[in-house]
Amino acid sequence: MALLDEKVAIITGGANGIGLAIAQKFAAEGATPIIADMKAPAEGNFFFVETNVTQPASLTNLVDQVVAKYGHIDVLVANAGITEHKGPVSQLDEENWNAVINVDLNGVVLTNKYVVAQMEKQGTPASVINTSSILGVVGAANSQAYSAAKAGVANVALFLASNLSTALTGAVINADGGYTAQKGKSWRDVDSHQLFLIKKVPQGAPLNRFGWLESTNGTRLNHLMALL
Ligand SMILES: NC(=O)c1ccc[n+]([C@@H]2O[C@H](COP(=O)([O-])OP(=O)(O)OC[C@H]3O[C@@H](n4cnc5c(N)ncnc54)[C@H](O)[C@@H]3O)[C@@H](O)[C@H]2O)c1
Repeated sequence: MALLDEKVAIITGGANGIGLAIAQKFAAEGATPIIADMKAPAEGNFFFVETNVTQPASLTNLVDQVVAKYGHIDVLVANAGITEHKGPVSQLDEENWNAVINVDLNGVVLTNKYVVAQMEKQGTPASVINTSSILGVVGAANSQAYSAAKAGVANVALFLASNLSTALTGAVINADGGYTAQKGKSWRDVDSHQLFLIKKVPQGAPLNRFGWLESTNGTRLNHLMALL
């Protein structure tokens, strides 16, 4: 029996990058991953629901479609995110600030709202994993909206854990900081900015270590590094 047999898992932002790697890993462990993204996945044969995590109607449609097809939702990975226009606060791009907070923080909370409502109805064990970032835990120059949003996501996990642990039997609420080295390079071979962050990891990472996601064919994805 595989680790995630019979588990139906929604992965927002699962069409690309870390979300797609999570979907592949979940599938290899027996789960049925649902890709909820604004675009279709770059590879793989997944059930895809076009979703914008900032839009309640889109999230309602996602839950309805998954429940109509599979009957239940066991795991949510709220992973969709965008990056910011970095710069000093005196030159803050206000439109970009709003866009990043909207997707990276509001989108995670809204996704939690609509999916957890379904999980509560089911009354069976369920898990919520929200993707934060090392930038939500440690400071870095010229990052405002992204750092604020990711710090928010990490803190949201605290109230979710308090609120939901009694409502969802066996609920696991995580906010995993993630970090990716440059594509195609090992983390030992990263540039100085990334090295700066990596050196801060022992202070900031809840479990004080890096982890790796492996692709389904067993090849290590050198561009993927999760901070767990
Ligand atoms: N890559 C990194 O170094 C890194 C580090 C720490 C945390 N993270 C976080 O991990 C998550 C995934 O990062 P990634 O590097 O794989 O990103 P990515 O850009 O490769 O993929 C993000 C996905 O989210 C989707 N998306 C964007 N806005 C959306 C919306 N409104 N609704 C639905 N889907 C939307 C995109 O279409 C894309 O497929 C993000 O939350 C990111 O902030 C990434």
